[in-house]
Amino acid sequence: MTAARAWWKEAVVYQIYPQSFNDSDGDGVGDLQGIIERLDYVASLGVDVIWLNPVYQSPQADNGYDISDYRAIHEAYGTLDDWEELLDEIHARDMRLVMDLVVNHTSDEHEWFQRSRRGEDGYRDYYIWREGETDEYGDPTPPNNWGSFFGGSAWEYDEKGESQYLHLFHEKQPDLNWENPEIRSDIYEMIDWWLEKGIDGFRMDVINLISKPEGLPDGDPDSDPVGVEQFANGPRTQEFLNEMAAETFDDYDAMTVGECVAIDVDIAGDYVSADGPLDMAFHFQHMQLDQQDGWWSIEDWSLPDLKSVMAEWQTDLDGWNTVYLGNHDQPRIVSRFGDDEEYREASAKLLATFLLTHQGTPFLFQGDEIGMTNCPWASFEEMRDADAKNRVALALESGDIEDYDEAREVVEFRSRDNARTPMQWDDSHNAGFTDGDPWIKVNPNYEDINVAAAETAEDGILSYYRELIDLRSDLDVLVYGEYELLLPDHETVYAYRRTLDEPSVDVDDVLVVLNVSPTETGVSVPVDTDAALLFGNELDASDASSESHDSIDLDLQPYEARLYDLS
Ligand code: GLC
Repeated sequence: MTAARAWWKEAVVYQIYPQSFNDSDGDGVGDLQGIIERLDYVASLGVDVIWLNPVYQSPQADNGYDISDYRAIHEAYGTLDDWEELLDEIHARDMRLVMDLVVNHTSDEHEWFQRSRRGEDGYRDYYIWREGETDEYGDPTPPNNWGSFFGGSAWEYDEKGESQYLHLFHEKQPDLNWENPEIRSDIYEMIDWWLEKGIDGFRMDVINLISKPEGLPDGDPDSDPVGVEQFANGPRTQEFLNEMAAETFDDYDAMTVGECVAIDVDIAGDYVSADGPLDMAFHFQHMQLDQQDGWWSIEDWSLPDLKSVMAEWQTDLDGWNTVYLGNHDQPRIVSRFGDDEEYREASAKLLATFLLTHQGTPFLFQGDEIGMTNCPWASFEEMRDADAKNRVALALESGDIEDYDEAREVVEFRSRDNARTPMQWDDSHNAGFTDGDPWIKVNPNYEDINVAAAETAEDGILSYYRELIDLRSDLDVLVYGEYELLLPDHETVYAYRRTLDEPSVDVDDVLVVLNVSPTETGVSVPVDTDAALLFGNELDASDASSESHDSIDLDLQPYEARLYDLS
């Protein structure tokens, strides 16, 4: 059955990381006026929605995911007036704006936390406080063995509050106590305030962590400390999300996409099915493939494993998918899933094809449309990511590593800084991002990889993105078509078919073939019809016709991507 139509299903989303997009005032930090200056570029991609990472007032312990005032704009980014102008300018270009909603936690500098730690009437219960025990030296020991996402214990002793508070992320990001109805209604009011301003939806940060298991039970005492399986998808998650939707989004034509850690396709269905509280969810199952043993490992991922994760979501999810390969928390996609050296261009185009032809709403991250890569870090001091910094500090402290060099390979690959280096606009100083000193290193490859150069490269990555985004908006089958995985076990060729049961459209059957390898590959694809080339990244590829009646034979160049019309 074809899914019901909705604008956010047909949309392509472009993610803007404000610190690193464009700096208009020379302080080295991207800002709202900087984004406005570049909106024509964003619109020229053909994308429909901008997702803006947090721009709220924040001490920036975790780059804006630590919010100290939900209704104010972070000073370095501009003012609320700048923000209003941005919204108008986005709408004037027929695009929409989705804001980040970070309500699992606030900054410890938020007024709520300040009042809570002082025990002010009505505020103590805004956060999660526990007395905890003390050890033989009288030092506080954590109330349970939960670990923070950024490494170490999820508890911090607060002198002023005279007890410990829960922080599933940075110690400057205390978790809100969603059991408290007061906090919920404050949050719903804030959500409404933004929706009333005319925004078009929210990306909801770690939203399936808001309900904590009753009694905050210890995890397995033998593993030290224990992680997300203890506290994700808590007992009241669904109830809180339903309540939030009923109190806020349901009255607006807004899209919602929840970032959900530790979900599988069944749990996701509870959140995003037709009568579920959210429109879409981000899952992490494909992001885990190269780190099955955790953050400190970089494992080889296999294409059949990636296919099987994707195919399960594509065919079994009761709801609408998101399609993404990277974002501000992940390595650059071409460095992780492609080849950022010899086949950078071909593999970046292949990944674009992957993103724009699966079933679900594609989320593109700034810079991927010109094939930006991971950054060559010269030293640990160049890095900014609170997560990577914390992990290295803890590993040094515990003696797991003796010096940074031991950690270097993993940190340089995994650090979220890779995605956060400034957008590369041209080959001028600092890649045209800022006239000042950039807050984070500019990737030295900006002299070759930049928007200005990409604009002049006929048949380059940028024009490939534009054409494919266009094609997707022309062809319903790429949006609403059913998905069928072909050749599930092939080690290097990723092939799938999209079909639409809609007699009125011309193209209702599309084959996608991706050679995810640096070697020329011959493959026989099991489709029983003639195939006319529709789109691809090798211009001399030709139509394929079935030699037998149940397959077509293709010879694919390294990292070649092709779309065939099988209608
Ligand atoms: C999400 C954000 C990430 C942030 C974390 C805590 O995973 O994407 O950047 O550090 O939540 O808010």
